[in-house]
Order: sequence, then structure tokens, then C-alpha cells
Amino acid sequence: MAKIVSSWNDWDPLKRVIVGRCDNSVIPPEEPATSEKVPVDSEMRGMWGLRPPDTVARGNECLENLVKILEDRGVVVDRPTPLQWNQAIGTPDFRNDSMMTCMPPRDILLTIGNEIMAAANSFRCRYYEYLAYWPLMEMYFEQDPDFKWTQAPRPRLTDRSYKHNYYDEKISLEERLERTAAKDFVTTEVEPMWDAADVMRMGKDLFIQHGLTTNRAAMDWFQRYYPEFRVHAVNFPGDPYPIHIDATFVPLRPGLIINNPHRPLPEPQRAIFEANDWQIVEAADPAHTEPPALCYSSVWLSMNCLVLDPKTVIVEASEVHQQEQMDKLGMNVIPCDLRDAYPFGGGLHCSTADVYREGECLDYFP
Ligand code: ARG
Repeated sequence: MAKIVSSWNDWDPLKRVIVGRCDNSVIPPEEPATSEKVPVDSEMRGMWGLRPPDTVARGNECLENLVKILEDRGVVVDRPTPLQWNQAIGTPDFRNDSMMTCMPPRDILLTIGNEIMAAANSFRCRYYEYLAYWPLMEMYFEQDPDFKWTQAPRPRLTDRSYKHNYYDEKISLEERLERTAAKDFVTTEVEPMWDAADVMRMGKDLFIQHGLTTNRAAMDWFQRYYPEFRVHAVNFPGDPYPIHIDATFVPLRPGLIINNPHRPLPEPQRAIFEANDWQIVEAADPAHTEPPALCYSSVWLSMNCLVLDPKTVIVEASEVHQQEQMDKLGMNVIPCDLRDAYPFGGGLHCSTADVYREGECLDYFP
């Protein structure tokens, strides 16, 4: 029996990874707290239903580009089993007219050492998304005697989990930014809720973004679940839609992080990095002024790269400025045509979930 699952950070040499699939993807219907998360000027407001089949085919083609690059370099790639996502779902606490997709895996699965945990996502439409990964988890469980297969406490997601009428359409960008700065988000604190992509793993330290998808109760839950880890709440007041940390604050190797220049990590939170001689560099500008059609994310998916080892990084093929910066920072850059997968939830880092990286759990902030 082999060791299949182990990963402590986002930069050690990658050996096995999950890459999502776009099949049957849905633009989900409105539910509590979704309209707060969709940019005000988005063409997707009020729209819902299966995504156009040609965009699904093209998204999958992009993910195949990534699979090929990974496999050519000897990385084992696992894929989820998509469900028919356009089905209504219900629990004793809520009903929703549809699910969403199994993209991106980074939002759902959190790997810490030999444990993969399905997250406590705050979107109702993502409540059953973990099922797409269960066939893989069964396989890891069967083949790796040390694999810990875990599900975080399932949030109930009743109406008590959300602030109602928190935003309306007319709220200004300035007001959104003020709320981010005041850490006043649409979720309440009645239960821990978190998306795995809000958690940045750095050995013994977990940096978790407090924002629209992850609440403070989640930080508390993490600290109790991992008493031997240090859990740091971080937030980025420059982000009007703080959802997932990986287009904002992205480590490339020990000692080096790129930070979205519009969303700098505020001063008291920088101290731990500075005290340990980590360099926080402003990320290069995106090559695009607009995200692709039917995309929720911002143009800053430009910095959502996948580090293969501390010297090698995959960057989206059209993101020439980001590639140039990585090169100057001493990384070997592998371009990958992935932009048409962005509408399904994100870039190269989002579209994947770690299964195995070499290396140990180190203390980078002693
Ligand atoms: N909120 C980010 C932005 O638009 C996108 C993050 C996507 N990441 C993810 N894991 N789905 O800038």
C-alpha cells in the first residue's frame, strides 16, 4: 500500500493533483447571500440555468491543456465524477432549485498533511458538490492506509446563517469597501462556514481570509481542530468582493509571496511575514481589462498560478505581464491556455486541489 495523500503548502514539488471538470455546469439561481457576491455590473445578475454547451466543451478543453502539461511532467492527475448539477436539492433546512458544478475543486477540498477535508461551504448550491470527489476519496482511502478522509461539520445554512437585505443593488463600491474594511460581511456567526480556497496553507501556519464566503466562527473552529497549528485571520480591505484568497495573496516559494496591488495585506498582518524575512511583492497587472463572458471572478485570476515546485510555475498563457514578472522572480514559467475555464470558477490554482506534494510540515514563522 502506498502513500497517496500528503501536502502541507502550495509550493513543494507537486506529484498528484485533482483537476476539475465543467460538465453539466449551472449558473445557480439566487439564494440568500449570492447577489452580494456577484459584481453589481455583471451580466449574470438574475440569470440562471445550464451553461451554454459550447462554453462547457471549451472549458473542458482548457482543463485538458492543464492535464496534459501536468502529465507530461510526471504529475498524476485525478478527475472528479460530475453529477447532473441542474437538479433541485433539499435538506431539512432549505431547498434550492439547482446545484452548480464541480469546478473549482480548490473551493471544496482542503488537504492538510494526510487529510483531505470537504469544506463547510456557505453557498447552498454547493452543498452536495463534494459528492463529485467521493469516488476519488474512496480510492485514496482504499489505497493509502494513512489517508484521513474527513468532512467538516456541515453548516445548516438556514436563513439565520445570512444577513438579509445586507446589500441592495444601489450600494456603492465605496460602501462595499468600507464594509470589507470593517469586516462586516453577509454571513452571520451562528455556525462555522468556510470555503477551502480561503485557507492558505504554509506548514504550521494557516492564513484564512475572513470575507464573504468564510466567517470568524470558521477561524475558531480551525484553531480547535488543529491545536498544533497557528491560525491567522487575514483580510484585504481593498477587495469589494472578498471571496477566496488565491487571486489576492499567492505564495511562490518559501520567503516569497505575490500580493494583489489593489488588495494589500494591511500593516499589523504583514508583521509576521516581515519578521521572518518574507518578501511580499506586488503582482504584475493583468493582461486583460475584462474577465471573459459569464465569469464571476475578476481579471486578477492573472495571479492565480499553480506552483509545481519552488522554481516552476504554470501561468495562464495570455497573462504575459504575470509571466514576465515570474521570470524576473527566478521562476521557470510554463504557459497554459486556460482562460476559457475562468467562467467555471477560476484559474489554474482554483481548478486544482492538491493530493500529494513532497515535503514535510515546516515552521516558516518560528
Ligand atoms: N475572488 C477572486 C477574484 O475575483 C477570485 C478567486 C477565485 N478563486 C477560487 N478558488 N475560486 O479576484
